[in-house]
Amino acid sequence: MTVFQEDRLKPYLTADRIAALNADLGARINADYDKVLKPDEQVLVVVTLRGAMFFAADLLRQFRFPVTIDFVRLTSYGSGTKSSGNVRVLKDIETSPEGRHVLVLDEIVDSGRTLQFLGNRFREQNPKSLRIAALLDKPSRREVTVAVDYLGTTVEDKFLVGYGLDYGEKYRNLKDILYLDS
Ligand code: IMP
Ligand code: MG
Repeated sequence: MTVFQEDRLKPYLTADRIAALNADLGARINADYDKVLKPDEQVLVVVTLRGAMFFAADLLRQFRFPVTIDFVRLTSYGSGTKSSGNVRVLKDIETSPEGRHVLVLDEIVDSGRTLQFLGNRFREQNPKSLRIAALLDKPSRREVTVAVDYLGTTVEDKFLVGYGLDYGEKYRNLKDILYLDS
């Protein structure tokens, strides 16, 4: 049995390359919060389900500052390779961002709508600070402006799967990131 049920899947980023990107992101984030956090403070890390689960699991373990972890699940409808502009909350965080340092983790910035929506939503709730980190950035597909504080790497306009990214809920558990060759 092979996990590559589609011969359309082509290699894009290896697990080693992803680990290197995470190490670099982790170092930058650690350095910044080292300057920002007072001795009694922690960071509320908000993980976007389901795609960011592996990214968050790896990046969180690089952090050298105290965290609490919460999850949000959004949808922009559709299960194909295009997301619509209509973002809805399927599962909200259970911790109030008010007065907390909030760090949002998402695996990829595509149209930018998800992170724009989340950024606006959390900013309204008076966090002490709000930062966003994403492993991948697909700038060619951006539809709205969103300020992402930490980006792993820029990717081409390809539909990616693996390391949390899915195609119709498949392939999330692949160690590497691959692209769907059309
Ligand atoms: P947005 O378009 O920036 O709002 O991104 C919404 C979500 O679409 C991302 O968090 C991913 O879950 C998903 N997404 C964007 N690009 C890809 C891709 O290439 N493969 C799989 N999922 C993607
Ligand atoms: Mg996502």
